[in-house]
Amino acid sequence: MPKHSSITSRLRIPAVSLAFLLSGYLLSCASQKAAGEPQPVNPNGDSELALLMRAMFDDALLMKQQIERGKAPRTGVDYDRILTAQATQPEKAASVDYKVHALSYLQTMKALQEADVAQASQLFGNMVNSCMGCHQALCPGPMVRIKKLY
Ligand code: HEC
Repeated sequence: MPKHSSITSRLRIPAVSLAFLLSGYLLSCASQKAAGEPQPVNPNGDSELALLMRAMFDDALLMKQQIERGKAPRTGVDYDRILTAQATQPEKAASVDYKVHALSYLQTMKALQEADVAQASQLFGNMVNSCMGCHQALCPGPMVRIKKLY
């Protein structure tokens, strides 16, 4: 009996961590489902960064509508948290590549927040470019969805 349980507990650890890695990979950065389908829910709970990203996406859509109505776009998201939010794959968000892209995104957001109506559309495009830049480098799955912001 003790022998049996020690074998299963030895086997369980790699199986669980493999499942965790796979689901993290499949749900966050691999291809996403077609438009209109509900997003998959991560059985391990969505990471802070995944939730922030969804809020950033919705916020960008709202800003796009504001620009289309001739208003200066204003964000409702604490986007600075891109530097600290816990990611599904923490090693990704800890990379230098990630930091460089995150700082570039923050710069484009700052410019957009300070923009007047005449510049807003171009600066919004720069901001979406910075989303795409990071995703191209680190997390290509959501790119299809992000492109809809253009
Ligand atoms: C500095 C890199 C970086 C930038 C900039 C960035 N993202 Fe992300 N994004 C990520 C990473 C990494 C993930 C995976 C998050 C996780 O699973 O923890 C992600 C995940 C996502 C997801 C999937 C969230 C989910 O449901 O799992 C969407 C949608 C998304 N990003 C949209 C955007 C949009 C829109 C922007 C620009 C406003 C943006 N991203 C800017 C790195 C970035």
